Amino acid sequence: MYKEKPVLIKLMHADPELQKRLAWFHQQPGCNWGIARSGVEDLPELTMTRQGVFLTNGAKQLPFHPSMALIRLMNLLSGRSDRYLEAAQLKAGDSLIDATLGLGTEALLGAWAVGDQGRVLALEQSPILAAFVQDGLNHFTELVPKAKNITKQAAWNALARASGRIEVRWGEHLSYLKSIPSRSVDVVYFDPMFRYTCKQSDSMLPLHRWSDHKSLDHEAILEACRVARNRVVLKERKNSSEFRRLGFDILRGGQYSSVDYGVILV
Ligand SMILES: C[S@@+](CC[C@H](N)C(=O)[O-])C[C@H]1O[C@@H](n2cnc3c(N)ncnc32)[C@H](O)[C@@H]1O
Repeated sequence: MYKEKPVLIKLMHADPELQKRLAWFHQQPGCNWGIARSGVEDLPELTMTRQGVFLTNGAKQLPFHPSMALIRLMNLLSGRSDRYLEAAQLKAGDSLIDATLGLGTEALLGAWAVGDQGRVLALEQSPILAAFVQDGLNHFTELVPKAKNITKQAAWNALARASGRIEVRWGEHLSYLKSIPSRSVDVVYFDPMFRYTCKQSDSMLPLHRWSDHKSLDHEAILEACRVARNRVVLKERKNSSEFRRLGFDILRGGQYSSVDYGVILV
């Protein structure tokens, strides 16, 4: 299993709530928490404050915040479509495996789409990212502001409910997919890091430090097709040769977008 360099944990206040949160981080499997002492100050940090938890890597600080999920859900609530959800065709009560959790934007939108009776299992190779996002989801309701905009408030509330439907699991998706029965989930989704190695967007930089950048293994797609009842979905760079290599049909649309979604119907 992938072994990460240590991350320092810094607790900024001695509140009992933060201490409990710190203890939770210490229990998370695979995480390599460093001990603060001179000479190792250049290690990345997990900073725990009353305002939230941040992953800090050099000058970049990453809070858990559902910003893109919020904008996309506001668009959906205003009657616009979302290409990911069009590709995934999730229905109420469905089960989804998000095989590449990252910062959880699409896991949240998937969890919204499957509703109260649905479930989302999200896999993440990096133990630090898995713990950071699961903690953010566990404390989601603390982020919800009082918004004047009705659609924004509805989107926040809906995401807060959706956050409770996501189970994050640290692990490599191929071995997990191999371990579960055939036709046991409705949809499997992949959004690999691969394409970001070409063009680094600023908001993705903190994610780079922890994420796995390998291209997808063909075997993972075969396993996904075995375990899925409905479809397997892939997000990749526009016109990426990955779609053809892995056997996906590209969905039309997104004329001005830098990504495409591909689908394998099973
Ligand atoms: C582009 S990000 C996903 C972004 C995500 N869709 C979101 O909405 O935030 C890809 C993530 O998949 C993870 N990953 C890559 N290969 C993996 C694997 N084999 N198993 C599990 N996670 C993997 C990376 O570490 C990275 O965090």
